[in-house]
Amino acid sequence: MTTIDTDPDTGLDPLEFAVTRNLAAKSAADRDAILANPGFGQSFTDHMVDICWSVRGGWHRPRVSPYGPISLDPAAAVLHYGQEIFEGIKAYRHADGSVHTFRPDQNGRRLQRSARRLALPELPVPYFLQSLRELIAVDGAWVPSGDDQSLYLRPFMFAKEAFLGVRPAHKVAYYLIASPAGAYFKGGVQPVSIWLSEDYSRAGKGGTGAAKTGGNYAASLLPQSEAYENECDQVVFLDQDRNVEELGGMNVVFVYKDGSIVTPQSDSILEGITRDSILQLARDRGHHVEGRNVSLDEWRQGVASGDIVEVFACGTAAVVTPIGVLKGRDFIDEQPTGTLALELREELTDIQYGRAEDKHGWLYRLDA
Ligand code: PLP
Ligand code: COI
Repeated sequence: MTTIDTDPDTGLDPLEFAVTRNLAAKSAADRDAILANPGFGQSFTDHMVDICWSVRGGWHRPRVSPYGPISLDPAAAVLHYGQEIFEGIKAYRHADGSVHTFRPDQNGRRLQRSARRLALPELPVPYFLQSLRELIAVDGAWVPSGDDQSLYLRPFMFAKEAFLGVRPAHKVAYYLIASPAGAYFKGGVQPVSIWLSEDYSRAGKGGTGAAKTGGNYAASLLPQSEAYENECDQVVFLDQDRNVEELGGMNVVFVYKDGSIVTPQSDSILEGITRDSILQLARDRGHHVEGRNVSLDEWRQGVASGDIVEVFACGTAAVVTPIGVLKGRDFIDEQPTGTLALELREELTDIQYGRAEDKHGWLYRLDA
């Protein structure tokens, strides 16, 4: 059990996790074989964390257990009405062997915002942070040390009450699992091609677009398949006024020739922590940064006229990836390539991997 003091902001005492070690944990040799080429989201560590919540008992029964199947009643509300949220955050191994994560308070708060939208209970941020530390305490050896590798942490919460009435569940589970990760895209940091979804939306006004909830991703799967059929890596969504929203799992950023940087902002877009960090690094370099509507016309005309000089996507899983092509039903727009996206990517990852000074205090140590 990791010792953490009472949280000074909330006055919450740390949870007492019951730890059950996995007696069938992978051998060091098997683990190393996985870490040599982890891909993304394919393999999982030896343990998982869970915390129960109920209307009557609040947050209770915090556990670290062997990774394995979850037993659910077939009437569990999540299986019927999709009351579910999740997060994505990474643990990075530094050259001295220590393990750090990046702005976890932001993920903890976003999980709370998602919870509010999905009528789920809000996990206190100190419990969220403690869950990350508890998992690293038992599975720290799973944090890879190769270039651009990390341990992808996937916190999630769902309605487990067995009840078919449509109302917020009275019983909920929070879980944390972890998966060693290399590059999200097969080609690494090569520019990606983007398919413009004209027939399908990801989110609507007043909907759940800003929440990290499974339904948004479910809604993106058919258009994402359309993207693959059209030989594109990812899909970009528009809002009802044909403004650019975001990709299936990443935010979009435009760089203009005067050096200003613009990213779509609205209440139907996930507020990306990578994007927020990249934009801060750009501000530190003196770039003017703006969050506002960007219409599809502004994008296409800006590229055609040379006003837009770079377009990139960013998110925890994909980090920062230049966009090379925008493809629609009746057009293919080559995107201009510059150097800013890759410079910002390097600056960000240098901080995450402890190679550069952490001026903004973004790192959080997980293994001490
Ligand atoms: N937009 C969507 C739909 C995402 O799934 C993600 C990834 O989490 C992002 C944006 C980027 O968010 P973040 O940078 O916090 O990972
Ligand atoms: C992340 O970047 O953490 C995400 O959740 C995106 C997902 C498509 C893997």
